[in-house]
Amino acid sequence: MAVQVKPCGSALGAEITGADLTRPLDAAAFAQIRAAFYQHEVIYFRGQALSDEDQIRFTARFGELRRLKLAMQAHVEHPEIFVVSNIKKDGKHIGSYDAGSLWHTDGAYLVKPHAISALRALEVPAENGRTLGDTNFASVSAAYEALPNAMKKRIEGLQAVQSFEQHLAKTGGGGVKKDIYSTVKAASEVVHPLVRVHPVNGRKCLYVTEGYTASIVGLPEAESRDLIAELALHCVRPEFTYRHNWQQHDLVMWDDCSTQHKATFDYPASSPRLMHRTTVVGGAALH
Ligand code: SIN
Repeated sequence: MAVQVKPCGSALGAEITGADLTRPLDAAAFAQIRAAFYQHEVIYFRGQALSDEDQIRFTARFGELRRLKLAMQAHVEHPEIFVVSNIKKDGKHIGSYDAGSLWHTDGAYLVKPHAISALRALEVPAENGRTLGDTNFASVSAAYEALPNAMKKRIEGLQAVQSFEQHLAKTGGGGVKKDIYSTVKAASEVVHPLVRVHPVNGRKCLYVTEGYTASIVGLPEAESRDLIAELALHCVRPEFTYRHNWQQHDLVMWDDCSTQHKATFDYPASSPRLMHRTTVVGGAALH
């Protein structure tokens, strides 16, 4: 079975076919998938009835997986798995029920933000034959490239505060009480370059999101707020985005340096949605 890469969006996104992720891939097939990932920034596989172990094994080939300490969203057997779901058991949510409600990149508030995220669809809500709960992705490398030179110059060398507290305040907590995060509080607000250099392909990427970017270091408050709003809006212009319409057994992987994402909450609370996410640990954001 030969691996094939079918680009699907103008700025990012590709479908990978010809790979059976329930089995270990040979080095050549994996190298082709890895290259496609760094080129297209979001890749997806359809029809992969993976177990949690399969997902962990495959995604760990991209790098060390983060192990979660937050009991509420961590899978009970696999600390590498973050559960995204609106399902309740015994009156309690089994995972994060509003993950992705704002444009963001995963782990931006960490000193070493996540490098890669992989989300597997176990249950997908549907209505009238169409699945709901799409995820939108935006290429922030394409967004940076498209900036006018004057703006590139203006933001060169700037640093921004990425704040978990801000995200919490805007979303109301992602289904998780603030005190659960006390163990990571020390790292809940960090400073990263506003323009990151991708550690693998060297592309410049805007690092500003609606969710986490709270201020720009050294700028007056109003200027900082306006610049964040302008850049965050620019990043998600339709020409930089790809919208993924989920099917059960999809695995979607995205690059947390060169993309940001946002989920669509267009399904009723009574329609179950269940996703398992693994994340590859990243390094410090480069500039
Ligand atoms: C996430 O933000 O990691 C989850 C996105 C989604 O559930 O669509």
